[in-house]
Amino acid sequence: VVEFHNMVTADPQMKELFAVLSRVARTEAPVLVRGETGTGKELVASAIHRLSGRRNGPFRAINCAALPANLLESELFGHVRGAFTGAVRDTPGHFQLAGGGTLFLDEIGEVPLELQAKLLRAIEAKQVTPVGGRTPVTVDVRIVSATHRALRREVEQGRFRADLMYRLRVIPVYLPPLRERPGDIGVLVNRIAVELNAQGDRHVDVVAPETLALLERWPFPGNVRELRNVLVYAWAIGTGPVLLPGDLPYEVREGEFEPTPAVVPSAGSTPALSERSAEAERIARVLERAGGSRARAARVLGISRVTLWRRMKELGLLDGQGEEP
Ligand SMILES: Nc1ncnc2c1ncn2[C@@H]1O[C@H](COP(=O)(O)OP(=O)(O)OP(=O)(O)O)[C@@H](O)[C@H]1O
Ligand SMILES: [Mg+2]
Repeated sequence: VVEFHNMVTADPQMKELFAVLSRVARTEAPVLVRGETGTGKELVASAIHRLSGRRNGPFRAINCAALPANLLESELFGHVRGAFTGAVRDTPGHFQLAGGGTLFLDEIGEVPLELQAKLLRAIEAKQVTPVGGRTPVTVDVRIVSATHRALRREVEQGRFRADLMYRLRVIPVYLPPLRERPGDIGVLVNRIAVELNAQGDRHVDVVAPETLALLERWPFPGNVRELRNVLVYAWAIGTGPVLLPGDLPYEVREGEFEPTPAVVPSAGSTPALSERSAEAERIARVLERAGGSRARAARVLGISRVTLWRRMKELGLLDGQGEEP
């Protein structure tokens, strides 16, 4: 088990990543962190700051998805008095406020195109022009950005400037989803257990093996944040020193993962081969989790048993056992 600031992992890919990060943190190179929601992007950003020569300077985070373009511009670059209604005084933006430190641009993939040009200029020239102002201000920040999107694809589809992407992703970091690092569930459960036990309402000494097995089977679309929420629930709902399967939320206990809509294409459509195999794989997985019960699998998939049987037949999943549902 490796510790990296507030993060822990037993996963080889994550360990490798932490090793890289502790080396690049000391440099001034811009880091772009990609990962699904709850994978620890913000933790990584603040760890980079604290390992860097800028650790005594400010760490400022701005969520680029939270604001419309004009407000975002003012938040990033500041504004001068009278720039717009309500601009009663000169106000510095995050680029200035993070001076001497690290600026964390969260959800960078959501920055509107028209602002991307200005962002690029700010990073290249190390200067920003406040909204409504004419004099550029020199700024000194190290940029760490994060996104849940594959920026390359955004570039290909014309939603993100290639030049800006190359400026931001000098050091690309990918945080794998929790479901792809099963060894981390146990490690994170132990870590979060210490924290929840310290809060005093319930002290759990043992996580029952069946409980851990259920957690390891859950896909955790919300990643570590979701795992934490599940444990907070479990601590609250159960009593006693053993964390039992019955303490887990119903969906985790029953393994009833909500399918994404339109898993089963409507009748008459002819999905592409890759879609078909993805669906076949999905049905097989749900069936396995349902212990082979087609009735339960159909319920999990949100379709009738007849529809499931028909889809399995069409996808060649019946292996000659083509009996009616
Ligand atoms: N490896 C880890 N070890 C310990 N805690 C972790 C780890 N990864 C994430 N966490 C915890 O998971 C939660 C989510 O982390 P964080 O906010 O950094 O995720 P994020 O990727 O920024 O998510 P979002 O995209 O939704 O903003 C936090 O409570 C954080 O402490
Ligand atoms: Mg975040």
